Amino acid sequence: MGNRLEGKVAIVTGGGSGIGEAISKKFAKERAKVVVAGFPEDPVEDVVKGIQQEGGTATAFTGDLSVLANAQRCVDLAVKEYGKLDILINNAGTFPETNMLSDYTEEAFDYLLKNNVRTVFCMSKAALPELQKTKGNIVTAGSESGVLGIAKNAPYGGTKGFNHAFTKGLAAEQAQTGVRCNIVAPGPIDTGWTHKETGPMDEKMEKMVTQGTLMGRRGTPEEVANVYLFLASDEASYVTGAVWPVDGGTLIAKGPAGKQAAESMKQQPEQDLNLEHSKDSHTSVRSQDK
Ligand SMILES: NC(=O)c1ccc[n+]([C@@H]2O[C@H](COP(=O)([O-])OP(=O)(O)OC[C@H]3O[C@@H](n4cnc5c(N)ncnc54)[C@H](O)[C@@H]3O)[C@@H](O)[C@H]2O)c1
Repeated sequence: MGNRLEGKVAIVTGGGSGIGEAISKKFAKERAKVVVAGFPEDPVEDVVKGIQQEGGTATAFTGDLSVLANAQRCVDLAVKEYGKLDILINNAGTFPETNMLSDYTEEAFDYLLKNNVRTVFCMSKAALPELQKTKGNIVTAGSESGVLGIAKNAPYGGTKGFNHAFTKGLAAEQAQTGVRCNIVAPGPIDTGWTHKETGPMDEKMEKMVTQGTLMGRRGTPEEVANVYLFLASDEASYVTGAVWPVDGGTLIAKGPAGKQAAESMKQQPEQDLNLEHSKDSHTSVRSQDK
């Protein structure tokens, strides 16, 4: 255990799987008290149990966080359980399909707006009054595709571009209240989304996105969680309005640069966290969420 978040209370949305599980476990290891939030069918309880078994402090919240009343209940739970809120991690998001726009369904587009855009709006709105009291901060999931756009997933990149601009606007206005707001912009990460067996990418796209990094590989959820940790901690006290890439060099790669990466760069580093749900991604359009 470290102590980089000693005394802090954090909410991690989408905390039941993928990158969110890693953020929840990393924050708990650094002594934050964590509210792990997700859809009712996400394994949030399991992540909470895993944290508690390793001596950390966490509690689960389930609900659709694109509904403002649910977002408010989630913030209220953090305050009721732990007395305050210091950190909001807006990690929840979806990646329902990959298609040219001519075939991209309206249903998937609405689903993206709900889960990638409304969740960030509702959670930020609900959390800000508490964050203003603690002079806390928000870190939101963006993406390299929110900067560059992404073929066969133009609407997804669009939602991430919204998150980037929204966060910069929020940083500008909330500097007046003492709240920092930043973006983590991952490249292809080793969650269910980037594997053809568990997400909407086909083999060609899977290869294209990993070779489009300078390092020729996916990042691990823990490598992304490390950057969330820095930005959410007091160590980043002079960082606000930033879009922080964690993308193995995707933003500056030209063509399939990953093919030429050193073998050492192509190896994922050893992981410290005990992750059990990194590939349990939620990518489909679930009828019960609509
Ligand atoms: N995996 C990648 O390659 C990648 C790349 C760039 C950015 N990102 C971003 O990182 C974040 C996490 O991605 P991941 O790969 O870990 O995905 P994931 O599917 O494993 O995790 C996302 C979680 O958010 C939850 N969620 C979605 N909408 C919700 C809602 N309305 N209410 C409550 N919970 C909700 C899902 O159920 C899921 O558990 C996303 O915002 C994504 O856009 C991921």
